[in-house]
Amino acid sequence: MCPPVWGGALDALKAKLPIAWIGEKIHYYPSLESTNDRAMQLAADGAPHGTLVVADEQTHGKGRDGKVWITRPGTSLAFSLILRSTLLNAENLHRFIGLGAIAVVDGLGKTGLNSSIKWPNDVLVNDKKIAGVLLEGSWRSERIEFATLGIGINVDRGSIQEDDRMDYPAISVSEALGSSVNRESLLIDILEALAGWYPRVSDQDFVSHWDTHLAYKGDEVILGEETAGVRGKLIGLDRNGSLQIDTERDGVVNARHQSSLRRYSVQPE
Ligand code: BTN
Repeated sequence: MCPPVWGGALDALKAKLPIAWIGEKIHYYPSLESTNDRAMQLAADGAPHGTLVVADEQTHGKGRDGKVWITRPGTSLAFSLILRSTLLNAENLHRFIGLGAIAVVDGLGKTGLNSSIKWPNDVLVNDKKIAGVLLEGSWRSERIEFATLGIGINVDRGSIQEDDRMDYPAISVSEALGSSVNRESLLIDILEALAGWYPRVSDQDFVSHWDTHLAYKGDEVILGEETAGVRGKLIGLDRNGSLQIDTERDGVVNARHQSSLRRYSVQPE
């Protein structure tokens, strides 16, 4: 088990916040259905940019495409950050998902782990999923009024149950490192990375850093549906942070949509 950071040491966490604009307001819950849902409610009620929602347990945490992301108490990191930014628009949404993923990659890097990003929102270690990012926005006509950047990380071995491995192989930080880590320090490192990259989310050095950590470069991949998806060799990100796939049929295709990516493997007849 991880040290019981969230009970006793919540004060220590608060003492290290805010980090830049993050965590002036922090809402901690021992148990919650979903930090993203709670953050969206708080934002709708006027909570400011940078408000942080953290839970020790999530009973109905949300993953992409309607999947459930369960967070077991004492084992994981589950948090959501409220964002209010004029940069949040349909054109740029992918950058903010990349921002969450890059912050996790950088935070994990501080523990000594090398990780990569499986477009758009999965963080992998040894080709297994260690973390996921979920960005949700509240739209007002063409504009996004506010968004919630939710991040879930498998920290301790107990964070993963056998049935979690069905969808995609999963791994925890402790399993990957062979030793346990302190959730509070990991959270702080991730928030520091997020605060550092946030002002540069439109810059070229952010896109380059994101591209450097993209998984499956040079591999044959499919983006989207098995039959109707884009299939080809993954080149990487272009200057705008769109995915570039070299296809046989249409040449290089640039995709910014949030369909998930996987390696293409020929099915046995
Ligand atoms: C995915 O991989 O499909 C995304 C998973 C995102 C899970 C996190 S945990 C904190 C935040 N609150 C939620 O309900 N979901 C995100």
